[in-house]
Amino acid sequence: MDKFISVADIADPLGGYGENLKQLLDLMGSYQKQPLKDSEIGRGKTIGLLFFNPSLRTRMSTIKASQNLGMQVISMNTSNDGWALETADGTVMDQGSAEHIKEAAAVMGTYCDLLAIRSFPSLKDRKSDYAEQVINGFVANAGVPVINLESATLHPLQSLTDVFTIDSLSKKDKPKVVLTWAPHVKALPQSVANSFAEWMQHYDCDLTITNPPGFDLSKKYRGDVTVMHDQDAALKDADFVYVKNWSAFEDYGTVGDFPDWRITAEKMKLTNDAALLHCLPVRRNVVIDDAVLDSEQSHVIQQAGNRVLAAQAVIKTIIS
Ligand code: CP
Repeated sequence: MDKFISVADIADPLGGYGENLKQLLDLMGSYQKQPLKDSEIGRGKTIGLLFFNPSLRTRMSTIKASQNLGMQVISMNTSNDGWALETADGTVMDQGSAEHIKEAAAVMGTYCDLLAIRSFPSLKDRKSDYAEQVINGFVANAGVPVINLESATLHPLQSLTDVFTIDSLSKKDKPKVVLTWAPHVKALPQSVANSFAEWMQHYDCDLTITNPPGFDLSKKYRGDVTVMHDQDAALKDADFVYVKNWSAFEDYGTVGDFPDWRITAEKMKLTNDAALLHCLPVRRNVVIDDAVLDSEQSHVIQQAGNRVLAAQAVIKTIIS
């Protein structure tokens, strides 16, 4: 693996995913038992973490994972500490951007053996966001492997974590997994949901996506997964309920006013005593009720803890 931008980076030459996904899940399981078993592998290597947007879990879990592998970490917030970057080719840079991504990425590549980037979408221009100019600009110019810490359209470290968490908790071979839209007060990226849909199609489960009309994810990521616009019907007999808000892909970036899609204890009763997952951060009693987040059905803390395992398995695989 020479980069980790999307699930495509774990495909084998024939386009299969099963064996490489299994290897990553096995490695995560081994790090769960022995976090420091590869603590010499990264000795003398440096990972650079670059955040264009806020983060708690991704930042801390990636630092922890790198430290478990013996690596040095440089972490930087571009909004406070760096120059505003230009990503387009041929621009006359006489406005706000002081540095082009061509120089910035190449320079960081001379300081670091691996770069990891978080860069959210604008949610104003779908074509530009889905072109992934920032993450692709780093891949093209850094000269070292690049890891996606949540880009404009995808969040693969979160999704690898989610596959592992579902695999760890599942009591049956082919669980029913429901990805459900939930309300929010502001427009959020589609990245977590896109990525979850993309990765779960390579895991042996019965996947359903449920969202209000007008909020279907991009066909590129949801593929042929069943989409239901009746949340109660979708939740029936679910073994896992993955809750996430996303802004509209069709009427790009709109929020949606559907308060009844909030996850309540009554809705969880429709399920097969489902395990509840959410990538966090979550706004309590807007997205999911206290009664659900504080119940035995919620596994969100365990899920967030597993982020270290995913980052460690990916970094180890790349630097090996
Ligand atoms: N789930 C997740 O990526 O959390 P952060 O935004 O806090 O990193």
